[in-house]
Amino acid sequence: MTRHLRLGVNIDHVATLRNARGGTAPDPLRAAKIVVAAGGDSITAHLREDRRHISDDDIRRLKREIDLPLNMEMAATSEMAAIALKHRPHAACIVPERRAELTTEGGLDVAGAKRRLKPMVHRLVDAGIQVAMFIDPDPAQVEASATVGAPAIELHTGEYCNANRRGAAAQLRRLIAAAKLAAELGLEVHAGHGLTVENVGPVAGIPEIVELNIGHAIVAEAVFVGLAAAIRNMRAAMDRALWTA
Ligand code: PXP
Repeated sequence: MTRHLRLGVNIDHVATLRNARGGTAPDPLRAAKIVVAAGGDSITAHLREDRRHISDDDIRRLKREIDLPLNMEMAATSEMAAIALKHRPHAACIVPERRAELTTEGGLDVAGAKRRLKPMVHRLVDAGIQVAMFIDPDPAQVEASATVGAPAIELHTGEYCNANRRGAAAQLRRLIAAAKLAAELGLEVHAGHGLTVENVGPVAGIPEIVELNIGHAIVAEAVFVGLAAAIRNMRAAMDRALWTA
């Protein structure tokens, strides 16, 4: 194994479960402490505009009480930028957001909004926040991410995860090409969305990728085996890919 592939554990759906009853359990902060103990590399939390899972107070507590880097996923709005600048997470992943979607359904159109995104990216980067643009594996979006000054991208793996076997091979080729181009442009490459123990291997094997952010599959498996075991199982699936790459 020649490289360390970081695992960011997205704990949004711990908050989804909490909010289902409007109380305080299960507490995402307790989940974050288990991520630390189980060897996760960072905590990822998406503060959505409608606050359907993670709350402002969750972000405050995660930043204050957890030692692992916090990756705050956020829409490109001035409200979210102000929150990020207030709490100064280690990283911010800029995602597209539509209120009616079940989850983040596609990458951000950076190429179509360069003028609007550039000043926001610069403000966040100047505050010491590592900014990643969450984009589809499309060369134009990779290039646009470099143009707006983001130091990193996160490749949306949803199409790869949702494809049938032949489609998945084609989607994997897109991810490989986008990762290579991004690295050539000096961008750090992350990936995520829809990854599971079963499908993570080929993505983990892409040499330019240094971080995967994974949520739903881990929290879903945690219902049966516990959160620490679910994290360790995902870590093991990633490591198997690194050993065989
Ligand atoms: N990365 C980003 C930018 C996301 O928006 C999400 C979903 O919130 C994830 C990773 C994690 O996706 P999943 O929950 O399907 O693992």
